[in-house]
Parts: sequence; C-alpha cells; structure tokens
Amino acid sequence: MGKFTKKIIRFDIETLINELNKALADEYLAAYQYWVGAKVIEGPFSDLVKKELEEHSKDEYNHAEMIANRIIQLDGVPILNPHDWFRLTKCGFLEPKNFKSIPILKQNIQGERCAIGVYDTLLKEIHGKDNITYHLIGKILEDEVEHECDLEQILKNISMKK
Ligand SMILES: [Fe+2]
Ligand SMILES: [Fe+2]
Repeated sequence: MGKFTKKIIRFDIETLINELNKALADEYLAAYQYWVGAKVIEGPFSDLVKKELEEHSKDEYNHAEMIANRIIQLDGVPILNPHDWFRLTKCGFLEPKNFKSIPILKQNIQGERCAIGVYDTLLKEIHGKDNITYHLIGKILEDEVEHECDLEQILKNISMKK
C-alpha cells in the first residue's frame, strides 16, 4: 500500500481487512449456494430459475474477486483456508434440501436480505473513512439489491401462474 494511500484511510486497517474477509467468506458461500442450487433444481419453472441462479452465482464470485483484490491492496491476506469461511461468515450457508423452484428461491432471497443488511451496516461504519472501500461495497450492495428484487419478481410470477 502506498504511503499516501495509507494516510487517506481513517479507519483501523486491521479491522477493515477483517471485515472484508468476513464479506469474502459470505460471497464465496453465496456463490456456492447459487451454484449448487442451479445444479439440483427440478420441477416446474426450473429452467427459468436455474438461469437466474447461475447468473447470480457469477455475480457473487465477482464480488469475492473485488473484495479479495481490495484486501491485497490494503496489504492484507484473503482467507486462505475454506474452513475459515464458516468461522467468519455473517450470513452462513443455506443448504438446499427441497429442490423445487419456490423453496430454492426463498432460501436465496433470505441470503440476499442478510447480505443487504451486512453491507448497509459496513457502509455506515466506513462512511467518510475509506472512500475506495466505501465505493466498492456500495457497488456490491447495488448488485445485492438487484438480486433480491429479481428473485422476488420471479417468485411472484411463479406463484401467480400456479
Ligand atoms: Fe455478493
Ligand atoms: Fe447477491
């Protein structure tokens, strides 16, 4: 990290890296939850939902990428061992047990709502203290809001056709 870059961060850097690693854990777990959901989904509307899940999985993976890059830029180390995903996650992992479209959608909506809450809180904490991370997390939050909206819309359409 450049010397001046360090100067413009008015937040404890170790705490910041730790928060970003928690977010990294959540993103990886979310990416996998969508990915595996898209693999096992079955029954009515599964083709439609599968496509959306696959898209979201890629978005979450991209979020993980963005967060890991920022951790490295801050001279931190991104989570090295997947064991730590479960130690650090705030939203956890919802294992799909019922493979039908509606329960899978509901589980993922729950995950998105958790992520939205977590990022909203993080943004409040770093507001005015680290503009780069603030901007980055803001972009991610925008995607999560869109994800929740898309899933809710699909759930609504499916429920109406049933
Ligand atoms: Fe995400
Ligand atoms: Fe998301």
